[in-house]
Amino acid sequence: MLIPVIIAGGNGSRLWPLSRSHYPKQLLRLNGEYSMLQATLLRLPAELRAVRPIVVCNQEHRFLVAEQLNDIGIEADILLEPCGRNTAPAVALAALQARQRDTNAKIFICPADHAIRNPEALEAAIESGYQAAESGLLVTFGIQPSRPETGYGYICMGEARGDHHLIERFVEKPDAATAQQFLDAGTYLWNSGMFLFRAERYLHELREHHPQMLAHCTHALLQGEADLDFIRLEEASFSRCEDLSIDYAIMEGTQDGAVVPVQLFWNDLGSWESLWDHLDKDAEGNHLRGDVIAHNSNNNLAMSDSRLVALLGVEDLVVVDTPDAILVAHKSQAQEVKRVTDQLKARK
Ligand code: GDD
Ligand code: MG
Repeated sequence: MLIPVIIAGGNGSRLWPLSRSHYPKQLLRLNGEYSMLQATLLRLPAELRAVRPIVVCNQEHRFLVAEQLNDIGIEADILLEPCGRNTAPAVALAALQARQRDTNAKIFICPADHAIRNPEALEAAIESGYQAAESGLLVTFGIQPSRPETGYGYICMGEARGDHHLIERFVEKPDAATAQQFLDAGTYLWNSGMFLFRAERYLHELREHHPQMLAHCTHALLQGEADLDFIRLEEASFSRCEDLSIDYAIMEGTQDGAVVPVQLFWNDLGSWESLWDHLDKDAEGNHLRGDVIAHNSNNNLAMSDSRLVALLGVEDLVVVDTPDAILVAHKSQAQEVKRVTDQLKARK
């Protein structure tokens, strides 16, 4: 059995002030009818959509998540984290839950912060990934890189084995110079952030390299409370997990990684710059939403909830007006928005 898993517990802080801790980006309708969480489920191949998914999110968002799933007619096991501990524990919880449903279950992990323009390309890639996962590999899906992006993981392709390659090296979020070297080398792909493996295989890696994390997650799930579709994890154990992503915790170190290259028109809508990149733009390269006017201005992203916003003679800006906060930033500073949210957290 292949079970879809949606990890949707990030705080999306780089899209502040639109994305807030009580309403993070994966639950926003950034582009169109569906939220990113809904779009993630709806783009799954039909066969996978028929399998009850596991959604791992923060308990604060349980009603929003349940309502959004209900709106698209999907019932799920919704695992509620009392606090965010990053993706390694979130995937551990999903793997434990999946193994409980089927000891030989495989899981297809999907982040909830992506836009994919050609989801039909996923189907064949998932099939190849499934075969590789059956042979015991931890499978990633690799995208051809187009710029020295520092916000992604890089995968060096090793020995080819049919539709997939063994992973020679996995480097999470390199610095700019290293990212440029990887781009020039031509043998690296971006890690798309989707994974496929046998649930037990991932738990085995954790047992070897992060036994404490596995113990805390196992305990948190065992002591958790089930309430309708929700499974509320026990807080004391879960909060003891180290805050670590799956990329650093497992993928950088494993000897058994594989990558399926896939030609996706794919974007991690993680920052204002990538969002601008993804959204439709007018002839001047502006994406203007709400009551916004622009003159002699190019390549800006401007959004307003209520007030009129006017742009005059400016380029490459992000202007986001919400009832209680305004962001004015240069697009090149998109990764730095987190500094603002860190500062806000420190104020509390
Ligand atoms: N349940 C849960 N709990 N989900 C989480 C948590 C958490 O504590 N933290 C993050 N997530 C979810 C996010 O909501 C998102 O959908 C997904 O996990 C990935 O987290 P990000 O924080 O967006 O990761 P990233 O974009 O910096 O890096 C990852 O994705 C890149 C591609 O988009 C890595 O896998 C990179 O290697 C990869 O290139
Ligand atoms: Mg992301």
